[in-house]
Amino acid sequence: MGFPENRMRRLRSNETIRSMVRETSLSINDFIYPLFVIYGKNKKNPISSMPGVFQFSVDKLKKEIKEIKAMNIPAVLLFGIPEHKDSCGSGAYQANGVVQQAVKMIKDSCPEIMVITDVCLCEYTDHGHCGVFAPNGTLNNDATLEILAKEALSHAEAGADIIAPSDMMDGRVGYIRKCLDENSYQDIPIMAYAAKFYSSFYSPFRDAADSAPQFGDRKSYQMDGANINEALREVALDIEEGADIVMVKPALAYLDVLKAVKDKFNYPTAAYNVSGEYSMIKAGAACGWLDEQKVMMEVLTSIKRAGADMIISYFARDVAKIL
Ligand code: PBG
Repeated sequence: MGFPENRMRRLRSNETIRSMVRETSLSINDFIYPLFVIYGKNKKNPISSMPGVFQFSVDKLKKEIKEIKAMNIPAVLLFGIPEHKDSCGSGAYQANGVVQQAVKMIKDSCPEIMVITDVCLCEYTDHGHCGVFAPNGTLNNDATLEILAKEALSHAEAGADIIAPSDMMDGRVGYIRKCLDENSYQDIPIMAYAAKFYSSFYSPFRDAADSAPQFGDRKSYQMDGANINEALREVALDIEEGADIVMVKPALAYLDVLKAVKDKFNYPTAAYNVSGEYSMIKAGAACGWLDEQKVMMEVLTSIKRAGADMIISYFARDVAKIL
């Protein structure tokens, strides 16, 4: 049936009818807010490439967490910046490391907030790579697994609710799962950065986390942005190894991957609306070229529409004010 019997505009004539036929809507329950934790006291350092985002010392984070709770944001994702970096990232798994302290503080002061911890080595290694190197200068995948598992276990011991490995080493989900299970943390879910692409949209994050690689790049572990079949194989492997939630990252340039992952596996699926996606909108708005709120809502709705059950976004606080 075509025009004139069918008039699509009938259902667009006013906001009430538009809201009745709306297919996708955002809820604050969809959001996970990333936080950067640093050593020291009374610190709240702005990140110049990410307006509105800060590095917090654990004491300062306490107030931030209260605000997050008041805004009904259900979950946070923690990244730690250690006091000292070394070649093997030993700051990642210390019982009193920054992330471990932050987890304890949050679970003491706001137990309702879901605490997800990013498990990776790039913030903790002096070379800024997500793994450790063998004497011959190549990345040592299997030796890295050992350290990642120690890091994950230390997060669980501190009280983390969900463990999120973002390093892209082969076999890490299974390795971490086994380590958690052997230590009676069989009930802690793993949110795997399953299809994590090598992306130039991460650069503002590397200012925030002080994690830029000091030589080379991450192409030998993060995925080639041209590949969707490989992304599906990565997700299949992570599910096989025990991932409870799978993630696609970044979100915007990979919405097709997100949709394919959701359609194929029908698993709880997270999308990471990464730093560059955030900063682009902030910059466009600061220039007066874009309406920040409207563009933000359009972008986040597209991520949900493509299949995300959860959205990790630096916009979570801004969204909370609207929803
Ligand atoms: C750590 C990690 C990165 C991000 C999340 N976890 C950086 C990277 O892989 O270089 C990026 C997040 C963002 O850009 O917002 N491996």
